[in-house]
Amino acid sequence: MKEQLHKIKQRGLEDLEKISNMKQMRSFEVQYFGRKGELSQVMRRIKDLPKNERPALGKLANEVKQALNIARSKAEKSLTSKQREVSVIDLTWPSQPHRLGHLHPLTQFLDKVMNIFTSMGFEVLEGQEVETPEYNFDLLNIPKNHPSRDAWDTFYVEGGMLMRTHTSPVQLRAMKKKRPPVRLIAPGRVFRHEATDAGHETTFYQCEGLVIDRSITVSNLISTLEQFLKEVYGPKVKIRVRPEYYPFVEPGMDVDMQCLICDGQGCSVCHQRGWLEMLGSGMIHPKVLSNMNIDPEKFSGFAFGLGIDRLMMLYHGINDVRLSYSGDLRFLEQF
Ligand code: PHE
Repeated sequence: MKEQLHKIKQRGLEDLEKISNMKQMRSFEVQYFGRKGELSQVMRRIKDLPKNERPALGKLANEVKQALNIARSKAEKSLTSKQREVSVIDLTWPSQPHRLGHLHPLTQFLDKVMNIFTSMGFEVLEGQEVETPEYNFDLLNIPKNHPSRDAWDTFYVEGGMLMRTHTSPVQLRAMKKKRPPVRLIAPGRVFRHEATDAGHETTFYQCEGLVIDRSITVSNLISTLEQFLKEVYGPKVKIRVRPEYYPFVEPGMDVDMQCLICDGQGCSVCHQRGWLEMLGSGMIHPKVLSNMNIDPEKFSGFAFGLGIDRLMMLYHGINDVRLSYSGDLRFLEQF
């Protein structure tokens, strides 16, 4: 066995001299130091020797191992860095999986809304987030000292401009360039100077709708919005229409949807009312049509404003609007 150990050492040192890359180095290690390597095999047999021979052989085996190991690390160091690189990069090694993000639930929902309206022949427009008071209020029939202005808590910015409080100014901006007939929606961010709570945010999303043509009536408005709500929430949807005041429409109305959770029986989601307020709408006020340079005698139209956040929350059963803007992955990863 002594003989054998010397031979292993001899051969090992010779083998090391021939090594020219890291791949060979690794197989050298397996061959000599591996669990089933030559040295281990000899060392395993030492315990079968007579007791008095064991210490000397054990010592020799360790010396051989150490000598080979020192020679091995010297040889490894002397391999040029290039040889190391070539052998270490294994192009067949599977890559690390990438963590992909996905669209925000609000964006996903907005896509759904846009798909429904474009399939009904609406075009999609974008407006500007910083507006003049003229477009946000005056041209929408909300004069400066009129109390109805109080319904929109406003952030004013430099130069007398403001962060738009609703998407309705896009109605007027669009009609600077277009003539009836028009069917358009304008989704986007809006801003209100509000204290936040589960139902209110300072920044949220609306989607404006505008239809102008000859002889457009309230029934066109109702059927369009009913169809939209059915597309989103399913064929069981029941709606009701309530009068509501918005200065830029006449008549103005809110559309409610029967609560889908309790089938109108009353529950915590609908605050025991059985109905959920879904959106504001109405027939465009003749004054607003005139501000668009459209003759109210010849044309009529309707407009609506969807609160995208609310509709999305109802769709997914989310009870706090602030979650959408928290950036909390525990929330976002559920969609
Ligand atoms: N702009 C209104 C709001 O933000 C909603 C609305 C739009 C109402 C269009 C009627 C017609 O409250």
